[in-house]
Amino acid sequence: MKGIGIIGTGAIAIKHVQAIAELEDAKVVGLFNPNPESAEAARTRFIEPVFSDLDEFLEIPDLDIVCVCTPSGMHLEPSLRAIHKGKHVMIEKPLEITLGRSDELILEAEKRGVQLAVIFQNRFAEDYQKLKKAVDDGVFGRLLMGNAYVNWYRTESYYASSKYKGNIKADGGGAFINQGIHTLDLLLDLMGDVESVYAKTLTSYHDIEAEDLGSALVTFKNGAIGNLTSATSLFPGYPEKIEIYGTQGSAILEAGKLVAWNIKGQTSTETHQEVVLGSGSSDPNAIGFQLHLAQWRHFLNALGTKEMPVVDGKTARKSVELIRAVYLSSQQNKLVRFPFED
Ligand SMILES: NC(=O)c1ccc[n+]([C@@H]2O[C@H](COP(=O)([O-])OP(=O)(O)OC[C@H]3O[C@@H](n4cnc5c(N)ncnc54)[C@H](O)[C@@H]3O)[C@@H](O)[C@H]2O)c1
Repeated sequence: MKGIGIIGTGAIAIKHVQAIAELEDAKVVGLFNPNPESAEAARTRFIEPVFSDLDEFLEIPDLDIVCVCTPSGMHLEPSLRAIHKGKHVMIEKPLEITLGRSDELILEAEKRGVQLAVIFQNRFAEDYQKLKKAVDDGVFGRLLMGNAYVNWYRTESYYASSKYKGNIKADGGGAFINQGIHTLDLLLDLMGDVESVYAKTLTSYHDIEAEDLGSALVTFKNGAIGNLTSATSLFPGYPEKIEIYGTQGSAILEAGKLVAWNIKGQTSTETHQEVVLGSGSSDPNAIGFQLHLAQWRHFLNALGTKEMPVVDGKTARKSVELIRAVYLSSQQNKLVRFPFED
């Protein structure tokens, strides 16, 4: 039985507690919030002990894994404390908000010989895994284009209710690093590494510091190109979509469901699956915990077999790199070639 401790007691921490409760071989042994009032408030919501002293939390006797659910720009420090105590870490997306901070995590976890994984639960959706296998098996031929559209909407109250959301220091940015990143992670997994990015981001509607709208043109190392959009200003918020086009065919994944699948010489299988608005396209709380549960199962299995987990630190760094390139390109109004100075 593995003991899991959770750092941060906000919205996503609740999903982790729900997911871990379904596991037979792991349990939540405690949570941590450094603010005594927030810790006290959390005690009314969680049955597990809530600590406000990090040393005490990290000394919980059966603590094996620390799950970091703090705002994105505050992943590094508590994760390092856990790593230095020899704990495995599962960090919520994104890995961190800059490449320097991401690299520190990867390096320290390697040095201490602990596992570092990042939550990208959409990797565990059944239809995504079918698409990934087909791309890897060459079913679509040589890849020509891969697009990722995250044309979402968030209300004014979403930003007003949090001092972190839309704040560049706390969250690293807006629609790309907070919302779009899940779909960008999938696109990178399908299309491979990036050669260059040209992007434009804007604060188009919300009264926030970060971007709520953006678009980018990507060239992949395999020669394919791609279009990316990420937004929280596009009412009412449509399900996120990935389009993959190759020399032999194409497929479209919408909110984790395959809605089109066309291979040359085969009968078209337009699937027309009903896409439920459960993807977070307009409501951040609409996501369930089943895919988090699938990633926890996978992570615990990887720990047991000593295999690298999906998504490890180096893999999670790729989506941070892409998004940092988007921001840099937009700021400087120029093409960013990889690798680049962050
Ligand atoms: N995988 C997903 O689909 C998904 C969904 C939502 C959020 N997230 C990610 O989860 C993380 C948290 O998001 P959230 O929506 O739960 O935010 P939130 O604001 O609801 O919760 C953040 C929590 O961290 C606490 N906190 C702040 N600073 C801290 C510190 N230094 N140490 C410990 N705790 C601290 C806050 O008090 C709060 O309890 C973010 O990185 C976000 O990107 C992932």
